[in-house]
Amino acid sequence: MVKQSEIMIEARALAYDYSGEEEPSSPALSGVNLTVHRGEYLTLIGPNGSGKTTLLKLLNALLTPSDGEVIVEGISTVDEERTPQIHKICGMIFQNPDNQLVATTVEEDIAFGLENLALPSVEIRRRVVDVAGLLGLNHLLQKPPHMLSGGEKQRVAIAGVLAMQPGCILMDEPTAMLDPAGRNDVIETVRMLNRDQGISVVHVTHFPEEAVYADRVVVLDQGRMVRQGPPAEVFNDLQLLHSLGLRGTTAVELAAMLREDGFALQPQLLHCRELVESLCSLELKS
Ligand SMILES: Nc1ncnc2c1ncn2[C@@H]1O[C@H](COP(=O)(O)OP(=O)(O)O)[C@@H](O)[C@H]1O
Ligand SMILES: [Mg+2]
Repeated sequence: MVKQSEIMIEARALAYDYSGEEEPSSPALSGVNLTVHRGEYLTLIGPNGSGKTTLLKLLNALLTPSDGEVIVEGISTVDEERTPQIHKICGMIFQNPDNQLVATTVEEDIAFGLENLALPSVEIRRRVVDVAGLLGLNHLLQKPPHMLSGGEKQRVAIAGVLAMQPGCILMDEPTAMLDPAGRNDVIETVRMLNRDQGISVVHVTHFPEEAVYADRVVVLDQGRMVRQGPPAEVFNDLQLLHSLGLRGTTAVELAAMLREDGFALQPQLLHCRELVESLCSLELKS
């Protein structure tokens, strides 16, 4: 469900080719048309090498298109003079939090991007305190980042992005290196920012259980967008997912097996709770 219709990012006929003209190979991305609306939560799934990271980097002007264009709040990413503005609007979170934390304390780390904007120190301190409060990081502000858990580190990285007051957060498998508790912390944090602050999210993940929180799921394969739709639709298209080496949520996979065994379950189940309820209602009827 698109919450608001205001366009935040628009990619048109987007293509990217890493190879030089001397050794041409198939492009990492081609013919991608994608719109991200303000306040929308979008997840991006696809097999390894399908172009997910390339697409995120193009949305954030870390790469510029080989063909087509990306417009972020009206600014084309080929406009190099305005790249810092795009980085401020679209913050990026990577897989490994250790590569994103640079300072000696959490407080300095959150302030790092703001120092580069040359904001007055009072404003910097105010923003750091605000985001630390919002993300529950106050008790960690004086700690060195390397002492934190993976989930805490990733939340500090998110705080650093949030301090820049972005309109959109792009996340490239942000939970891939975390344990289940850390993963949960990060996902809850991002969902809260989307829901309460209206920040758009583009979230690349290999975990179907994380992808289901999105308004829309986009599927990439071999550099092309092959499907998009609400999570309940995309994750119930097991034929497509399995053909790409992906899987549905646990509930979807289980429901498919149960249907094969003759259980007349409700269509488009997504969550375990829905599966349990559908099974229990069958039992009551029989
Ligand atoms: N720096 C690079 N140089 C050359 N090819 C690259 C580079 N980064 C990615 N690729 C290629 O581009 C394609 C898409 O990669 P990527 O965007 O990283 O996919 P994903 O994030 O979905 O795994 C792959 O074929 C990959 O090998
Ligand atoms: Mg990737």
